[in-house]
Amino acid sequence: MAEKISVLIPEEEIEKRIREMAEEISRDYAGKEIHLIGILKGSVFIATELAKRITVPVTLDFMSVSSYGNGTESTGRVRVVKDLDESIKDRDVLIVEDIIDSGYTLSNLLTMLGVRQPKSLKLCTLLDKPDRRVVDVKVDYIGFQIPDKFVVGYGLDYAQKYRNLPYVGVVELGEEE
Ligand code: IMP
Ligand code: MG
Repeated sequence: MAEKISVLIPEEEIEKRIREMAEEISRDYAGKEIHLIGILKGSVFIATELAKRITVPVTLDFMSVSSYGNGTESTGRVRVVKDLDESIKDRDVLIVEDIIDSGYTLSNLLTMLGVRQPKSLKLCTLLDKPDRRVVDVKVDYIGFQIPDKFVVGYGLDYAQKYRNLPYVGVVELGEEE
């Protein structure tokens, strides 16, 4: 089973957009400290690139969640696989995701983390597939809006592969080769 990957967003465009987002975030959080939370594993690439370019103080933590449900469709609930190491109470929290699809994962996460009383809670995603949205989620920073296609690279996987591609590409399933 050979997968062909065609480039959707080249590396240079992603880097440029991350720099722009970091500038915007740095302006919005002027005089504050950002507690950046990356959602494993997909957001590792964007979270670290973003963190390097943010000019206000940044602390980092990571969390891993998985959706309950069967197969490829998300369900309404998420399970915490790895919780945060630190408390977020009274901190300015910025959640970083790789992609927002149905919105289930993030809307659940926002509710779950909101209970822990952060001072503020905002959301940043590299990619957004608005056509797929089922639940409404307010996203504060969006890298790119993309069409309803399955993408890999820059942290995103297909069966755990291709996360390390430096660009975002569309998977085309090959024919018997
Ligand atoms: P949501 O709960 O439907 O918003 O699911 C978001 C999660 O689904 C992301 O964190 C990804 O892990 C996964 N996902 C959604 N679309 C894609 C895609 O095109 N490529 C790879 N993973 C995806
Ligand atoms: Mg993910």
